[in-house]
Amino acid sequence: MSMLTLILAAALSAATPVLREDNIPEIVSLLTLEEKAAILVGCGSTAFDGIGRNDIGVKGSAGATHAVPRLGIPSIVFADGPAGLRIDPTRPGTDKTFYCTGFPIGTMLASTWNPEIVREVGEAMGNEVLEYGVDVLLAPGMNIHRNPLCGRNFEYFSEDPLLAGLIAAAYVEGIQSNGVGTSVKHFALNNQELNRLHNDARVSMRAMREIYLRAFEIAIRKAQPWTLMTSYNYINGTHASEAPWLLTDILRNDWGFEGAVVTDWGGGYDTAAQIHAGNDLIQSGSDSRYNALIQAVKDGRLAMEDVDACVTRALGLIVKCPAFRGYKHSDSPDLQAHAKVCRAAADEGVVLLKNKGALPAGPDGVTALLGVTSYAFIAGGTGSGDVHRPYIVDLQKGLADGGFTLESGLDTFYTSYMQDEHWRCAMIDGQNSWVIDRERPIEVVPEELIRQAADKADRAFVTFGRVFGEGKDRDLHYSYMLQDREIELLRRVSEEFHARGKKVTVILNIGGVVEMESWKDMADAILVCWQPGEEGGHTVASVLCGEVNPSGRLPMTISRSYEDEPSAGNFPRIYADKPFNYSFYRRLEGNKKDYTVKDIDYTDYDEGIYVGYRYFGTKAPRAVCYPFGYGLSYTSFRWSDMKVLSRYAQSDGVLDPDGKIIEYMVDIQVTNIGSRAGKDVVELYVKAPGKSMDKPERELKAFAKTPLLQPGESCTVRMSVPVESLASWDETAEGWEIERGRYRFVAARDAAEKGLAKTIRIR
Ligand code: BGC
Repeated sequence: MSMLTLILAAALSAATPVLREDNIPEIVSLLTLEEKAAILVGCGSTAFDGIGRNDIGVKGSAGATHAVPRLGIPSIVFADGPAGLRIDPTRPGTDKTFYCTGFPIGTMLASTWNPEIVREVGEAMGNEVLEYGVDVLLAPGMNIHRNPLCGRNFEYFSEDPLLAGLIAAAYVEGIQSNGVGTSVKHFALNNQELNRLHNDARVSMRAMREIYLRAFEIAIRKAQPWTLMTSYNYINGTHASEAPWLLTDILRNDWGFEGAVVTDWGGGYDTAAQIHAGNDLIQSGSDSRYNALIQAVKDGRLAMEDVDACVTRALGLIVKCPAFRGYKHSDSPDLQAHAKVCRAAADEGVVLLKNKGALPAGPDGVTALLGVTSYAFIAGGTGSGDVHRPYIVDLQKGLADGGFTLESGLDTFYTSYMQDEHWRCAMIDGQNSWVIDRERPIEVVPEELIRQAADKADRAFVTFGRVFGEGKDRDLHYSYMLQDREIELLRRVSEEFHARGKKVTVILNIGGVVEMESWKDMADAILVCWQPGEEGGHTVASVLCGEVNPSGRLPMTISRSYEDEPSAGNFPRIYADKPFNYSFYRRLEGNKKDYTVKDIDYTDYDEGIYVGYRYFGTKAPRAVCYPFGYGLSYTSFRWSDMKVLSRYAQSDGVLDPDGKIIEYMVDIQVTNIGSRAGKDVVELYVKAPGKSMDKPERELKAFAKTPLLQPGESCTVRMSVPVESLASWDETAEGWEIERGRYRFVAARDAAEKGLAKTIRIR
């Protein structure tokens, strides 16, 4: 290179600006079409295994954007997922490990009904994102629990959009307080896994606005996630990632979303349509997507303004990221401190469903521990929502660490049996691809040992477990129902222990609802510990012995039978007798519009807004097994002094001349009248007049969790109900409408309890 060329190159580079927070428009004007396409279409995956694996930047992350070094634009890294950061725990050439804390699953976080503790989980999780060199965590998952068989419900929060939205907002705030991003997902209507790339969700605008989009709206308005991930499915005939009405009209124009939109991994088909709709980033990206984008611009099918709008938002994201700040990550987050946060959150998310004098129990005396899951606890679900956690504390260890003495006959038997089962499961899992359920140990019914244990032990704990995940919905018979062997085990234990006047507690270590109505009478206590993360056994042991007083509440209804579910007739049935064949459900490859097979090619959301308790409380012919919001405590609380206060509109301290009320504030005094310290949850439901509009019997409009109240201690909780939150979507007027008339504000312990009530009138 001649001296002149060197001087020219130096002068040129001195003149070329680099990306700053305040020069994005200038940088966009300097980018070539190829560079723009490279920023928008991700780096692809060096070893794509179906759940997003990327070895650029951080090994085992999900994806990355391309860098444009000449303009100072770095590559940023995305990684899953809701229960913690998912990256590879080991790397070639080093003995160092890169484990991440396995936090409680989303459903359990929602069961805490405590946004504060969820924010703390987010803070800890976000610190791992930062310290492992990742820029955006692909979480939280926040689709509505429409049907208990959805394979990814464990990643999601609730059947109720307010609970889901507020928990998601806290999660996002916690993570983003670290200066890293989140991606609320999957926007929207990804409520089934079967044929998820091609299924068309057919749903009314009212149900969308009030239920399925509402949770996202709450989280976005409150917490401004840096990114949002579009879902794979179609919505009323259009791919979510290709729908301008969704991404531009509703998300950005209506709700004021300021972040970038990213596709789900490989989602959608028509790159030009996605960019036009406002889906800024195409992940995980491929050469064909990159070429398609460039070609569409050259052919005039895609306007450069659309591309520039997406690039502007992508750069707006990039300038916020640690990669742009040149953050030097340590690869050494404080996993021990985060394990404590995991434990604290799990402690609050355990739900006590039944307790006929069985709990608290121990650690004194002898405990019979049964069920293979007691010895192989499930920390979380499978697929992209999985986490490579350093360990899982099972219940055997949790109880031993908590000072329990386990009945030796069973302990010896299970310890040896489980060793063989672990080998068997590991061999089968080793041959499986990621979509298949994780192999579980086979349940045993050691009859003679049960009899002996019933003589020697003071109580029995029996754990049943369920694990499932992305890519597949749950089997009604094998996953939702308890298996014959499980029922047989419970029956034997219950007969033998009850015959000797001893109590039996069932612990459910599950990612989603199982049927309970048919067997709940056999148990004296039922404790749902969900999938509580790596510290699970410790959490459950401390709840069992009363060191922790349960304060979790159900974030969904548990119906008496699957057939009672409002969506039972419009949800795929998985047939256990037909081996699962993923490709079978991909036969509608391509952007085809000829949907033909019900519940596979398309799913009708006939129940409309009547999801979960909205249905069971309004239209269901019979009661439920456990209602939404339900959960017991070891102490009792008295509620009193319910007050409804109004806040009037004002500007600059001057009241609105029409006396317009913009918010109701509901106060309740809660007193612990039992003998143990505990936390209570007040759920505020509203019953609208329902005269000029079709309205559910009750809708959750606010909730509050008390601090830990000592026996005799009181506190007043205040809940806010903005008047606009009482509105319903009017399909004809295409807008929100507040019905006039009398509204009943009901403070209750669950969606079915009578509770305390006050009436207000909206004129
Ligand atoms: C999942 C997303 C996930 C992505 C990247 C997709 O298969 O649906 O939830 O974030 O993979 O791993």
